Amino acid sequence: MKKATVGAVVVGAATVVAVAALVARHRMKKSSKWTRARAILKEFEEKCATPDAKLKQVADAMTVEMHAGLASEGGSKLKMLISYVDNLPTGDEAGVFYALDLGGTNFRVMRVQLGGQDGGIIHQEFAEASIPPNLMVGTSEALFDYIAAELARFIGEEEEKFHPPPGRQRELGFTFSFPIMQTSINSGTLIRWTKGFSIDETVGKDVVSELTKAMQRQGIDMRVTALVNDTVGTLAGGRYSDKDVSIAVILGTGTNAAYVERAQAIPKWHGPLPKSGEMVINMEWGNFRSSHLSLTEYDHAMDTDSLNPGEQLFEKICSGMYLGEILRRVLLRMAEEAGIFGDEVPPKLKDSFVLRTPEMSAMHHDTSSDLRVVGDKLKDILEISNTSLKTRRLVVELCNIVATRGARLAAAGILGIVKKMGKDTPRESGAEKIVVAMDGGLYEHYTEYSKCLENTLVELLGVEMSTSIVFKHANDGSGIGAALLAAANSHYVEDKSGK
Ligand code: BGC
Repeated sequence: MKKATVGAVVVGAATVVAVAALVARHRMKKSSKWTRARAILKEFEEKCATPDAKLKQVADAMTVEMHAGLASEGGSKLKMLISYVDNLPTGDEAGVFYALDLGGTNFRVMRVQLGGQDGGIIHQEFAEASIPPNLMVGTSEALFDYIAAELARFIGEEEEKFHPPPGRQRELGFTFSFPIMQTSINSGTLIRWTKGFSIDETVGKDVVSELTKAMQRQGIDMRVTALVNDTVGTLAGGRYSDKDVSIAVILGTGTNAAYVERAQAIPKWHGPLPKSGEMVINMEWGNFRSSHLSLTEYDHAMDTDSLNPGEQLFEKICSGMYLGEILRRVLLRMAEEAGIFGDEVPPKLKDSFVLRTPEMSAMHHDTSSDLRVVGDKLKDILEISNTSLKTRRLVVELCNIVATRGARLAAAGILGIVKKMGKDTPRESGAEKIVVAMDGGLYEHYTEYSKCLENTLVELLGVEMSTSIVFKHANDGSGIGAALLAAANSHYVEDKSGK
């Protein structure tokens, strides 16, 4: 063997050793990255765990808080607001009524023609627009002017057959999906904003007067005859089509529930006893809190950074506005501490609320073998390309943890209401049926979430009882419900029968 050749062999061997060491170090680095990522996931999963025993504690805490909120104003974090709806639709409502729905993300105007005496809904039409984000944090006048302008446009385009007879005003049910201290069926002041709205000057104001002034500015001649929360509207709309509906739950941008309470079980109600003996209560359960909620450091940090720190904690772990954001926060930590997306932390991942729940839902529901949807979403939203299948699987696992916790806690909330109504155990006479009217984009579109919610309630109630609880999707029940309540409280009493 020649010297030069020996040298080359030695150099070659050294290179091989060096490369092997590099590869090994790289592998070790990679595997320790994954170990770190798995550790973050595991810790998160443990903190989010909602075993049945815990959910039962949540349900019991919900029942206790419901009692406290009904006992006195300010008695609980649960406001248990009196809706002034003591008569749910009967089917006799007749005439043309309007509904205006200011919820979380969208805003809707609707016209409903009611047939009276079980004639049902003869005709309905709606227009929908998303609320420009700048109006959510602007001035009261700008927000109400925008709503009134949309309403004016809607009316302006309607066929003549819908025009009211001379001397008669159009009547409107206003669904205002925020906590309102009602002073009557058609008046009430805003307690506070939720869901990313923040217009200080509106708090404490009567929202019906605000709307009426804006309608006058737009030259609209219309009377607001009912002011309702979306849960109350959904309950009313649900009852119209099914007499067994006695609870309504919204799972959308925000979350909340309403139910039918015995008037005598509302100590803080000092008004006359309603003929029906009942009153619909808007729970505002989004503000529920309990030491049994499985909160993590990500939830606390999101709350601190929010427009309403310390408020709406239940909403912040269960509802559509926040699920994607929780996921983003966990992914960011994994990117920073475990480098799951490479050596650099993807800049987009640092933008709050960039990952929305509909996108999270699309990733969670990805059934393709290579998790193509997950890859596309990560690329399109977060500008992270070339993700490995392993990384994509990790993302799906996280989606599952976040959605499961939210859905199971929402189910526990419903159990709390069923308990408060005394309907959680079978009666000798046979269990009464409870129909829960459900609505909201999260419930409607995030199937894994809604499936999990429904299965959890069965799990908690036991198979025997669970058959007497039925979930019913009340698609846009709140708009129809508001129109029905506007009809029930029509100013033209003599016309209520439709004659
Ligand atoms: C509001 C409720 C509303 C719920 C669902 C919450 O943020 O406080 O009034 O019913 O969202 O829209």
